[in-house]
Amino acid sequence: MNRRYVQAKWQLSEGILEPTVFELGEIGKGGVVVARVEDELRREVGELEDLIPQDLQRGAIGLPGLTEPEVARHYSHLAQMNYGVDSGPYWLGSCTMKYTPKVAMKLESHPSLRNAHPYAPEESVQGILEILYELQEMLSSITGLPKFTLQPAAGAHGELVGALIIRKRFLDLGERRDEILIPESAHGSNFASAAMAGFKVVRIPPSEEGTVDMGALRAAISERTAGMMITNPNTLGIFESDILEIADLLHSNGSYLYYDGANLNAIMGWVRLSDMGVDLAHLNVHKTFSAPHGGGGPGAGAVGVIEELADYLPVPVIVREGDTYRLDYDLPKSIGRVRMFHGNIGVLVKAWGYLKLLGSEGVRLSSGIAVLNANYVRKRLMDMGFEVPYGKDRPCKHEFVISLSRFRREYGVRALDFAKALMDRGVHPPTMYFPLIVQEAFMMEPTESDSLEELDSYVYAMGELADLARSDPDELLSAPKNTAIGRIDDSFANKRLWLSWKVYKDRESS
Ligand SMILES: Cc1ncc(COP(=O)(O)O)c(C=O)c1O
Repeated sequence: MNRRYVQAKWQLSEGILEPTVFELGEIGKGGVVVARVEDELRREVGELEDLIPQDLQRGAIGLPGLTEPEVARHYSHLAQMNYGVDSGPYWLGSCTMKYTPKVAMKLESHPSLRNAHPYAPEESVQGILEILYELQEMLSSITGLPKFTLQPAAGAHGELVGALIIRKRFLDLGERRDEILIPESAHGSNFASAAMAGFKVVRIPPSEEGTVDMGALRAAISERTAGMMITNPNTLGIFESDILEIADLLHSNGSYLYYDGANLNAIMGWVRLSDMGVDLAHLNVHKTFSAPHGGGGPGAGAVGVIEELADYLPVPVIVREGDTYRLDYDLPKSIGRVRMFHGNIGVLVKAWGYLKLLGSEGVRLSSGIAVLNANYVRKRLMDMGFEVPYGKDRPCKHEFVISLSRFRREYGVRALDFAKALMDRGVHPPTMYFPLIVQEAFMMEPTESDSLEELDSYVYAMGELADLARSDPDELLSAPKNTAIGRIDDSFANKRLWLSWKVYKDRESS
């Protein structure tokens, strides 16, 4: 299937796309007519201005006034100019941009959940506590780690929690261990989280196979090693087959093995983390169990630990007593609260719904299909001449990385140019220039919900672009042409952060 793509473009005039709500709105216009207070009531109660103390009254706050159809159409226009997982394939490697079953979104927006106050007394929110408790149990059975917290707001936040737990544990033991080992292929957040928790980061280079170099690891371990953070499969999509030896090395040194669960989608239902020797881990609950988080959130980075570390989990923990659920704050060794309220409940409910839909066999199957899809696409791209820099002689897991450096060398076309041209073909570009150990990297991750036709159309688009790079590179350099916005000035967009209309207006006038 070769689907052609032309993105909707709503334009006010040449150069000006869909106006913002601030430009569309007018003071005094509105979508709701508020009933006039009856005169009798007004006489009885008095004027609102007289009831609210003067210093608490505020004037107009500059919200735009629009009618309901204007609002509905404005957001429909924006949605049509946008691209998301509901529009087509979205192979943002390492981000696992899964399609979210709509029934899970229905659960999340159920009025009894939506309207519950985050600090409502425990006895009045037993239902949601039960859902969260059940989610913890499901995560335990998938990972083999007995105790979980659902508080962290993202994967990186989970890493920080894990690193703080390790630090507190060694403080309690009276051991001075201040180093965390991290493979060079790891996600940047691993290095940052370990450093934020006060550790010195020791980088472990990759072997030629793209896995942890065991010689370098042995040389790096010392009595100062608190632990290692590992992603398995790693960000190249390669399974760290030395994982048991790595775990043994760390454990015999008194150090902990931390697992970055962002890639759990590749192995869930097939391998338990506890069987790999993992002591603590975060799971990217968003992405692994649907709810993609491209664009920054919200997410959920549940952290699971072995019994030995359970006392260090953030408070409160959810406990079950008979048929009731309770929030337990009595954990003297806890690293403390890490998130207001009880975490990003919406994401957690979607994950619960996703897991309930699949059941344990479905979890295993979805992971198996994701891996099959990735291997299918990788093989087809390799047959077309695309270069896989690491581990090409072994199967990949749910994602893989190709290098487009040959195209850059021979035709002056970079990974970025391929990405822009993919957009013209109705395909969201994959993750680019990551991991850093691959030049002109393209990191692709199909998910279990992509059909064979979608995989084939992606492969077809890549083939078309490879041909174009050889025959007419300028065509790639000027892409995209079918999208609402053409090629943007990346450095301008990065350096001039106008993230809101107000900021834009303030900067424009200054
Ligand atoms: C391998 C890996 N680790 C950690 C993270 C951090 O997760 P988050 O973006 O939820 O903070 C990511 C992000 O996608 C990731 O791919």
